[in-house]
Amino acid sequence: MTTTTTLFETSLHSLPLLHRGKVRDNYAVGDDRILMIATDRISAFDVVMADPIPGKGEILTQMALFWFKKLEHIMPNHLTGEAPESVVAPDELDQVRGRAMLVKRLKPIPIEAVVRGYLAGSGWKEYQATGTVCGVALPPGLEKGSRLPEPIFTPATKAEAGEHDENIDFATMERTIGSDLAHQVRSAALQLYAAASEYALTRGVIVADTKFEFGLDLSGQLTVMDEMLTPDSSRLWVAIEKYKPLDKQPLRDWLTNNSQPGRVVRLPLTVVESIEVTYKSALLRIV
Ligand SMILES: Nc1ncnc2c1ncn2[C@@H]1O[C@H](COP(=O)(O)OP(=O)(O)O)[C@@H](O)[C@H]1O
Ligand SMILES: [Mg+2]
Repeated sequence: MTTTTTLFETSLHSLPLLHRGKVRDNYAVGDDRILMIATDRISAFDVVMADPIPGKGEILTQMALFWFKKLEHIMPNHLTGEAPESVVAPDELDQVRGRAMLVKRLKPIPIEAVVRGYLAGSGWKEYQATGTVCGVALPPGLEKGSRLPEPIFTPATKAEAGEHDENIDFATMERTIGSDLAHQVRSAALQLYAAASEYALTRGVIVADTKFEFGLDLSGQLTVMDEMLTPDSSRLWVAIEKYKPLDKQPLRDWLTNNSQPGRVVRLPLTVVESIEVTYKSALLRIV
């Protein structure tokens, strides 16, 4: 992997821009494909920070490509197998190399398919208050970071830009997307998590929780899209040092101590560098 450029925002002139997300810029390739470019933007608490993390887009893309391939026997993914370099102009190659995917344009299912194997984040907060996580009752006596008796599926709505995702129970998910599809998504997410967390452990990494996104292709086939099992979409811990994060937790902690959540802030160089090291370490351990 070569990390030569830092990219905060893309500017392709040869393709129409579809959407700028918090991290990815999506361009239309005809009407059935998307060029998804992972920039170096980083968000926390659903807000994009003013400073990029150099090389982050490449790390996310390399990890997602690794997992798509590793888990394709469980669920088809959105990759077309074509090189992103093949659809841009020569002067745009620097913006896609190593950090882009050429994918099938799917009909997104408006649900964040979250699976939790350990008690952390908002799950830990809810458990302390009510003994449940997203409405799922858990045994008493669990501690922060405890492994759950078995992984649980805790869906959330996919919020519009500027809004926060909202946890929903399974019955609400069934009403939103239909019962059949809700069952398919839950089963796929749990299977993907089981296989991924088992593999990650052989690399010394705990996948404490993670979020998948799914879409439907033209034939109605459920397909995993977006990114998969990256430090942006997952809580990753070093297995032998259970709380040592390999994700954006250091950024969340810094923001909690130094800013009001939800504000766009400039990050000190020490924070940028520590996230850079953390993300690189996640890539090196897993891929
Ligand atoms: N294959 C696909 N087809 C259609 N939309 C997709 C596909 N893969 C990912 N997306 C969407 O592209 C966007 C990726 O950009 P991202 O920066 O992650 O956005 P967000 O701010 O919503 O997290 C997301 O809205 C995601 O749902
Ligand atoms: Mg996203």
